[in-house]
Amino acid sequence: DVGGRSELLGEARPGDRRPSKVAIVGAGAVGSTLAYACLLRGAAREVVLYDVNKEKVKAEALDIAHGIAFTPMGTVAGSDDIEICADADIVVVTAGAKQKPGQSRLELAGATIGIMRDLLPRVTAVAPSATYIMVANPVDVVTYAGLKISGLPENRFFGSGTVLDTSRLRYLVARECGVAVQNVHAYIAGEHGDSEIPLWSSAMVGAVPLLQWGFTADGRLLDEAVRARIAEEVVTSAYRIIEGKGATNYAVGLAVVRIIEAVLRDEQRVLSVSSLLEDYLEISDVCLSVPSIVGKDGVGRRLVPVVTPHERDGLRRSAESVRAVIREFGL
Ligand code: LAC
Repeated sequence: DVGGRSELLGEARPGDRRPSKVAIVGAGAVGSTLAYACLLRGAAREVVLYDVNKEKVKAEALDIAHGIAFTPMGTVAGSDDIEICADADIVVVTAGAKQKPGQSRLELAGATIGIMRDLLPRVTAVAPSATYIMVANPVDVVTYAGLKISGLPENRFFGSGTVLDTSRLRYLVARECGVAVQNVHAYIAGEHGDSEIPLWSSAMVGAVPLLQWGFTADGRLLDEAVRARIAEEVVTSAYRIIEGKGATNYAVGLAVVRIIEAVLRDEQRVLSVSSLLEDYLEISDVCLSVPSIVGKDGVGRRLVPVVTPHERDGLRRSAESVRAVIREFGL
C-alpha cells in the first residue's frame, strides 16, 4: 500500500527487514548521549534505554523523545525493567563505575566487573541474539570478563576500545597537518587507557605516510617531539575533560554510534574495537584494541599492520597491563 497508512507512518511492511533495535544499558551521561546520537544519525529505528534508576531513565528517554520530530524516523523509550531490551539487535553496556578526577580506568575494574556479573545474565536472557558492545571501563578488562560471564561467541561480544582514542588522534594530527580529519588514517592500539600506543609507522595523511609529512600547518617540523606531544594529549584527554566537566560523553557517544552503524549496515568498516586476541603478534588470551573489520557478524578479521619493534613491544606491554588486572580478578 505505497503511500497508504503503513507507508505514511513508516511502519514495517510485510517483507521489510524488521526495523533495527538498539538497547543501551545505563542512562548516565554516556548512555543518554549515545541514545541521542543514535536517533540524530538515524542509526537505528528503535532505541531503548535501561537503567536501575527508574526516574532517571524515564526522564532521559522522554527528553530525547520530545525531539524526534527533528530526527530521522525513530522511537525511544526508557525503563527500569530489563524486558525493554528484549530482542535487541545490538546491546551497548555503558553502566559501570564512574572515573573520578585523577583515577585511572583500570582502578574501576572491581566495581564494574561486579555490575557485569549481575547484569549480563539478565540482559542476555532477553536479548540472546544481540551483538554486545561494552563501553564501561576499564573496557578491555570488562570485555574479557563479559565474554567469560556471558559465554557468547567472541565475534558478537567486543568493546568500543580505542575507537574514541583513534578519533582523538586523527583530530590532533589533522589539526597539526592542516588537513580534513577524514583524510587522516592512523590508529591507536592496545589498552583503552594509559598504556595505549599510536601506530605511527602505518599512519597516512591522504596519500602521504605521516612520518614523511614534513612540516605542521604553522611551519614547525613534524618530528618525534610533535608526535610525542600528540600521543600524550590523546592519553590524557579523558583526565582533562573529567577534571573540567566530571565525565566524557559526546565523542564516546559518536564513536559508539559509528560501531553500531558498521554492524547494522554490515559496513565491513575497519575500527579499533577491543576484542579477544589469539596469536596476534604473539599476543593471546587478552582483550585489546587493534584495527579490525566490523560488520553484521560483529568483529571479524583483526588486521596486522606493519609495526616497528618499538610499536610491537608497546602493544605487548599494553597487553601485559590489561592481563595483570584480568589475573587480579581471577578471570
Ligand atoms: C574516555 C572514556 C570513555 O576516554 O574512557 O573518554
